[in-house]
Amino acid sequence: MAFDPVDVSRITPRALGFDPDDLGFVADPYPAYERLRGLSPVVRDDATDLWLVTRHVDVNSTLRDRRFGRTYLHTASHEEMGHAPPPASLEPFWHLINNGILDMEPPNHTRVRRLVAKAFSPRMVEAMRDPVQRLTDELVDVVAGEGEFDLLPAIAEPLPVAVIAELLGVPAADRHLLRPWSADICRMYELQPTDHDASLAVAASREFSDYLRTLSRERRAHPTGDLISEMTLVVDEGDRLTEDELIGTSVLLLNAGHEATVNVTGNGWWSLFRNPDVLADLRARPDLVPTALEELMRYDTPLQLFERWVLEDVEIHGVHVPRGAEMGLVFGSANRDPAVFDAPDELRLDRDPNPHVTFGAGIHFCLGAPLARLELQTSFSTVLRRMPNLELIEEPHWKPGYIIRGLESLWVSS
Ligand code: HEM
Repeated sequence: MAFDPVDVSRITPRALGFDPDDLGFVADPYPAYERLRGLSPVVRDDATDLWLVTRHVDVNSTLRDRRFGRTYLHTASHEEMGHAPPPASLEPFWHLINNGILDMEPPNHTRVRRLVAKAFSPRMVEAMRDPVQRLTDELVDVVAGEGEFDLLPAIAEPLPVAVIAELLGVPAADRHLLRPWSADICRMYELQPTDHDASLAVAASREFSDYLRTLSRERRAHPTGDLISEMTLVVDEGDRLTEDELIGTSVLLLNAGHEATVNVTGNGWWSLFRNPDVLADLRARPDLVPTALEELMRYDTPLQLFERWVLEDVEIHGVHVPRGAEMGLVFGSANRDPAVFDAPDELRLDRDPNPHVTFGAGIHFCLGAPLARLELQTSFSTVLRRMPNLELIEEPHWKPGYIIRGLESLWVSS
């Protein structure tokens, strides 16, 4: 589409309904995305200081383009990029985040990702199939005869938390600590965290780091075959892995390893309940679960937006975006782009191919995607089979978060 950059400066995403602080927008951001996509491929949102990219082709190519980075610290200082350094009070949080692979760029990213990737290969994940099924059955056993229950604490949350904790080697007795730490740290992923959010995130970063430092030193002395034990074997070996990288990456794995999976389960079931004919079809055709899950992840994207720093001046469709600016890649919008998906607002269980960007693209493509797929396929298949009359008993409410977008609860009756 021909497009005049001058007009763009007059378009405000707010006027088109883009407002991450508004629960109405969080509940249904898709009409606003449609308006944004229609007007311009890239538009600046003054309120968040982000250049929003909403079309599939541009989100996908930006993720693969090395002129953009999750961080800029491998190329320049904060000052050189025109930004104030974060306040010293946030140091424990940023130290932790900067030592996780999601916020590294090559060559560090390449080195650390290679070390942890082995644990998430399709073969290793396949070996998790029976344990994941067993765990799912145990969770369903507890609620199957309950009548009414909240699906989130009953199944959606404990399954991925237990799986990732088991893989890393966090003892069962300590697992209750993980979700509160993760929730407090993840507050900082939202677009404009408050001072209160920041202080909770700092406290959680400190406690989580201290906990993992102690645990990893114990594992180094007495390895138990889990991922933390394996990683300790290469700590401080030449340039392979520092202890801080081990901790930062373990926190990332423990958090990323459940946050989105919980929300795909909750949001996915909510989408099915809102589309009863589709749910009936899925009950009749459980073989469709794999494509249905890809579709549920496209239709209601659990992680709505990811950011990228602009490492050198760029032109996107004639719009100049300066070095040091920050892009907001709107995954939720890319996944509803009619240029790529037929009838994007329809939930089609057998949509195939389904090139959604829910797991990202490029060097940061989700390391846990095969594991997430295994967990989700197992939990949806098991619940469909063992609770054939599952129904919604109360309209759910969305949590205030926009980036990590999920429901407060999902009350159902079996
Ligand atoms: C449905 C569930 C999940 C979704 C939608 C999801 C989504 C994503 C996305 C979009 C990214 C890339 C972010 C970016 O490029 O800025 C990512 C990265 C990552 N994810 Fe996931 N994820 C899920 C589950 C998991 C699980 C279960 C694990 C744990 C094993 C995991 C571990 C990671 C890691 C370690 C990264 C960073 C990779 C890197 O920077 O190289 N994720 N995920």
